[in-house]
Amino acid sequence: MDARSALDDTALEQAALDVLDANWTGSATVPAVGRYPHQWSLDSAFVAIGLARRRWSRACAELLSLFGGQWSTGMLPHIVFDRSTGEAYYPGPSLWRSADCAAAPHGTITSGLTQPPLQACAVWWIWRYAPDRDAALAFVRRAWPSLVAQHDYLASARDLGGDGLAAIVHPWESGLDDSPVWDAPLAALPLVRYAYALEEWRSDSHHDRYVWLAMRYRDSGYGAGYLRDEHPFAVEDPLFNGIWLASCVALAGLADAIGADRAPFREAADRIRRALLDRLWDDGAFYARDLRAGRLIPVCSVGCFGPLLDPGMPAPVVAVLAELLESRFLGPSGYPVPSCEVRALEFDRSTYWRGPSWVNTNWLLWRGAVVHGLDDLRASLAASTLRLVRQAGFRECFDPFDGMGRGCRDFSWSAALTLDLLAR
Ligand code: GLC
Repeated sequence: MDARSALDDTALEQAALDVLDANWTGSATVPAVGRYPHQWSLDSAFVAIGLARRRWSRACAELLSLFGGQWSTGMLPHIVFDRSTGEAYYPGPSLWRSADCAAAPHGTITSGLTQPPLQACAVWWIWRYAPDRDAALAFVRRAWPSLVAQHDYLASARDLGGDGLAAIVHPWESGLDDSPVWDAPLAALPLVRYAYALEEWRSDSHHDRYVWLAMRYRDSGYGAGYLRDEHPFAVEDPLFNGIWLASCVALAGLADAIGADRAPFREAADRIRRALLDRLWDDGAFYARDLRAGRLIPVCSVGCFGPLLDPGMPAPVVAVLAELLESRFLGPSGYPVPSCEVRALEFDRSTYWRGPSWVNTNWLLWRGAVVHGLDDLRASLAASTLRLVRQAGFRECFDPFDGMGRGCRDFSWSAALTLDLLAR
């Protein structure tokens, strides 16, 4: 590395830390000041991963704050609301009404949905990069019951297809909220219209359906039986389940650390892998399965590479995925990885999750390349991601052709994962 890039790296690292310090509320990190004024569970896992080497205690505090919002069912909510900002984000506490639900924690207001279960991986990072072994052990022991309850919840309440995969019951549970993968299952829902306080939410039937779905689930009392028998949106998503599998592997490693039994987590990982291959793999790619329509959704998004996170994915499958990624995602875009394959009709370079490149999905694919020893892919994903943030800043997402920043500035997971990439 020459002197110039070393200097650049130091400055970039400091800038990333400055963003995370500014977005820290005292108990958690908001994704972006203003637009996202609460704690999001997926974002917090990425933040903890990024902070593990640089602000270790704060990485622990980030996750403990999130676990404070966990429901007695084990469900880890996708938003833990900051009471002081109230309804500043739509939909806010008044839509979810978590306080009316006996399973929700007392004194903490949350949403009623979950998000990809990356938290065990984050705890693994915290364990691995802890400056003090005793403190690390104490933290893992403290986090352990929450992680186990979260995984039990997914296995018991979300295996709606009965085959070992967890179903998402709302696009907001995917982390890729506006992805074209959800277009068909959303189009099957009734057309509804709501009046919103916020201008930006008007005249988009998808958003009306998002709200309608959330309200239906809420009005059922967030019941597991309702999800199984009546809820009209249920999708087995390769990214959600790839992350779940990676977290099962992390839990097996953490079990060793604290002297617990690793076998249940290994078995869960094997079960999810088998189900991914049996249910979502079709002719050279993983696709999401719409459980209500009983078919795969033939849209190839960045989420279709989620199973790369599994260290046990068979080598021939990994090779096919790597080739697909190269030919249909990396090659056609100057600033990868586009969130939807470029040649798809649904591709849109400027709309959230329908085309732009994101640091978090780049990082997940980079992890997949690390796990499988795909050195060229690993190096090119790290370099292109760092190029994005160096040129455009820690934006929420980026134009996949010209690298222009889109969405919020000073976005937490973009800063946090830059720290992790720089540390390698
Ligand atoms: C958007 C994203 C979601 C993220 C949230 C907060 O809703 O789609 O993945 O967690 O913003 O950053």
